[in-house]
This record gives sequence, C-alpha cells and structure tokens, in this order.
Amino acid sequence: MRKTFIAGNWKMNTDIASAVALAKAVAAGSAYLAGKMTIAVCPPFVYLSAVAAAIKGSSVAIGAQDVYFEANGAFTGEIGAAMLKDVGCKLAICGHSERRHVIGETDDLVNKKIKATLAGGLLPIFCVGELLAERDGGRTEAVVDKQLKAGLAGISVAQMASVTVAYEPVWAIGTGRTATPKQAQEVHGFIRKRLAAMYNAQVAEQTCLQYGGSVKPSNAGDLMGQPDVDGLLVGGASLKAEDFLGIIKASV
Ligand code: PGA
Repeated sequence: MRKTFIAGNWKMNTDIASAVALAKAVAAGSAYLAGKMTIAVCPPFVYLSAVAAAIKGSSVAIGAQDVYFEANGAFTGEIGAAMLKDVGCKLAICGHSERRHVIGETDDLVNKKIKATLAGGLLPIFCVGELLAERDGGRTEAVVDKQLKAGLAGISVAQMASVTVAYEPVWAIGTGRTATPKQAQEVHGFIRKRLAAMYNAQVAEQTCLQYGGSVKPSNAGDLMGQPDVDGLLVGGASLKAEDFLGIIKASV
C-alpha cells in the first residue's frame, strides 16, 4: 500500500511571520493524521530554519523547493543538500516546471539534482509535466517519458524507494485549470507503466505518484480517488492553512 503524501509548495511567498504562522496552523490542524499520511511544507530557503523551529516535534515534514547538485564550494547563491538537511529538511523538490521553464533547468541538471538529493540523505520530489502545446500536439506521453528517462538516469532500484514522482501538467499550474481526474489518471497510469519498464513491477507498484496543478479542497477528493494518484503537490492553495487542511482532509 502506497502512503498518501500531500506537500505544499509555497513558492516565492510568505515572510517570516506568515511562514511560521502557516506552518504552525498546518501542523496543529493535521496532527490527528500523524502516521496515517505524509504531509510536508516547502517554504522559501530563507524561512526553512524558522519554520523548522516553529513546528519541531510535529509530524509535518519540511522540504526545500530546489537544491543544487554540488555538495559545497564556489557556487554563489546556491544551496546544497547537506545544508538543507542541516536546517531540518527531509525532502527537496527537483525539476519543478517553474525551474524548468522560467529559470531554464534542463533534464540533465534535474538528474544531477535528484542524485545530489539522494546522496545528501533527502527525499526528492521529481516533477514532470507537459506544456499546453505539447498536450494539444498529442505529445504528452513522449514528453513525460523523456523527462522520466533523463531525470532518473543512473538512479538505482534501491534508490527509487526514496523517490516521489509528481506529475504537474504545466498548463494546470497556477491557472485554475486543473487536469480532470481522468486526465491525471491517464498520465499517472502511463508513468507507472514506464517505471515498470525502466525498473520492475515492484518499483512501479511502490512509487508514490503525486498530481499537481490547481489542486483545491473541492477537487482534491476526486483526484485522490484515482487508482494511480497517491498524493498531491499543492501550490497556491497551500498558502492558506484552511485550504491546505481541506485538501488534506479530502485526501484521507
Ligand atoms: P498550483 O501549483 O497548485 O498553484 O497550481 C502547483 C505547483 O506548482 O506545484
């Protein structure tokens, strides 16, 4: 049985006070689910320590929105996995579509980040997803397949136990236009099939697949009701404790 995994990606939002208040509200409001599902919040780098201190001892995990692939050194502005672990992170998002399409990250860079995340003892959330033009052109599966192959190159069967794959259609992110549960299931089923081919049936069966893109309390239940949707990666709606807790409740 795959454990439900709901993560909130705060992106470049909040300040210290609102980040701490939001994390505390999420921790308090989801305490009744401790051990039943995995819940994580991903604040901006600069608020990780404050959030970690604020919810210390709670069952809510803390994740980073990105990570650099080198451990340390002369890489001005970058943050390595060991640093993230040092401030209390358990996971790191790798290859989010905004990093791919706004910042310009390549599949190869995403692959290096996943490897560095695993080497640093953190759990990667590996994001894949197609642009609207790619979906309209009937290329969704080809795009996702390429991202999967490149992103997971050199990742072993054993390491796959630590990897979550998030399917986030780019056209659904921050647009209010959620993929229908059927569209999400189609791609999630495809990802699981590809994982079986790339690894084996057990890896395919055990890997947690999150959906992300305009998830709200009102659509979370239907998305989570799909057989291959095991969790959610939530952007905008994770910035309001009430909405994020509503999504968590709908996912039980
Ligand atoms: P959204 O973002 O929920 O605001 O669409 C999802 C994401 O980018 O992870």
